Amino acid sequence: MKIAVAKGDGIGPEIMEAVIGVFNAAKVPLEYQFVDMGKWVFDKGFSNGMTPEAKDTIEQLGILFKGPMETPKGKGVKSVNVTARKTWNTYANDRKFQTLSGVDTVFSKAGINIDLTIVRENIEDTYGGIEHMLTQDVAIARRFITRGGSEQVIRYAFEMAQKKGARRITCGHKANIMKLTDGLFLEVFNEIAKEYPNLKADDVIVDDLCMKLVSRPDLFDVIILTNLQGDIVSDLCAGLVGGLGFAPSSNIGDHISIFEAVHGTAPDIAGKNIANPTSLLLSGLNMLRHLGMMEKAVMIENALLSTLESGIHTGDFGDKSIPSVNTTVFAQAIIDNFGKQPTHHPKPSLQDFDFIPTNRAITKNPMLLSSKNEPHKIVGADFFIETTLQPNELAALAIKQEKNQLKLVTISNRGTQVWPTGSVFTNLVNQYRLRFETDPASPLAQADIIDLYAALSKDFKISSLELLNMWGDKKAYSLAQGQ
Ligand code: NAI
Repeated sequence: MKIAVAKGDGIGPEIMEAVIGVFNAAKVPLEYQFVDMGKWVFDKGFSNGMTPEAKDTIEQLGILFKGPMETPKGKGVKSVNVTARKTWNTYANDRKFQTLSGVDTVFSKAGINIDLTIVRENIEDTYGGIEHMLTQDVAIARRFITRGGSEQVIRYAFEMAQKKGARRITCGHKANIMKLTDGLFLEVFNEIAKEYPNLKADDVIVDDLCMKLVSRPDLFDVIILTNLQGDIVSDLCAGLVGGLGFAPSSNIGDHISIFEAVHGTAPDIAGKNIANPTSLLLSGLNMLRHLGMMEKAVMIENALLSTLESGIHTGDFGDKSIPSVNTTVFAQAIIDNFGKQPTHHPKPSLQDFDFIPTNRAITKNPMLLSSKNEPHKIVGADFFIETTLQPNELAALAIKQEKNQLKLVTISNRGTQVWPTGSVFTNLVNQYRLRFETDPASPLAQADIIDLYAALSKDFKISSLELLNMWGDKKAYSLAQGQ
């Protein structure tokens, strides 16, 4: 089997060479096609950080094994890492965190074993990077959570949890505050949980989850989160097991999957042959499991665990009384340990895997069609306007423009109601939301909203507009705080 390999920037080439050396010594049946991605490709003028040839090769081969890549600062270019994940719809970021002998942590010293998998949604949320300044002082970001996007990653998490015989699958969320976005993610989780009655499924609010993870990480097994929360919680979990140098990452999609270390290019130690290749090696082992090469993955992982147990370490971790070794010597020690079983937590053959067969057939945009078919109506609109008026003055002006049965029902500032009731203690910025609603029994046409827009625009600078929708008898918008 042929896969695409991008060595990356900084320490990338050194750790990639070490890992491929281990794979070759283990006779892993893979052929490597090296592709051009990363900082030097940006520098050559390719604004997305990869050459067209690299893109074609990756799309043809379906698997990319990559080293860390630097995003040039201040050049207005987007991260090639994020571009790759989003372009190829690698919707599930699977990160495994396990206690490793030889890597001391407060938990390993207390005899608490950690074996956690975080599945982070990888495409949506605020990572769309859709941001606007509404006034010179007010920036907003759009946060996309979709039913289809949630379904595909949550289903991946359940499939993986079932295959690995997980004790528990937990959804982390903030649906108590973000009732529509995190609420949708949690709703989909609860729906899919019904299809897996043998798995213990539950949910925990994300702040509580962080507290529980740092006090009793052994109580968790598989955790699924939206993108930003997943990003933060997974670095927290990396800290629990000894740092980013021990955290592998798989970006799984239906057609293309990307395997990479969690850490960056470590420019401070690049070119010195002292970097720790463990994170990239563990990511490579996830890749072998993904490709069904279980026996090779287990053999190499047991050799890695035996090496760590023996106290051999690079400079970034381990017993300081034992001199550290460089990247090449560390990789050679792993090769020398082929066939050995570690004393603690040996990896059993053919178990604990996340083999999801790669489906290379393309179904064109399956998420365009909704599985829901509730009748839709427009019952109002939120107008976001820039003004320095006080709420009462603003309301008096806005009420004069009421049209087509649309009545001003609330004014809020940064989400908190300031009219018809409010508090003098609420601090105001020059950006208000005016909500106009009609009686749901007499829904509106878009033209009614445009009439109101035209009327309001005589008095106000309107920065943006959101329709207030209903599907069936459910309001598809949140209340203002205090409404
Ligand atoms: P970093 O992870 O590169 O470095 C943080 C610290 O950890 C440094 O002290 C470094 O020496 C150490 N470190 C990281 N990996 C190590 C390893 N394998 N062995 C020993 N020590 C290691 O994070 P930083 O400095 O924030 O980012 C540097 C560059 O990497 C930036 O351009 C960033 O955009 C990029 N980056 C790329 C990622 C990717 O390709 N997926 C992920 C994170 C950052």
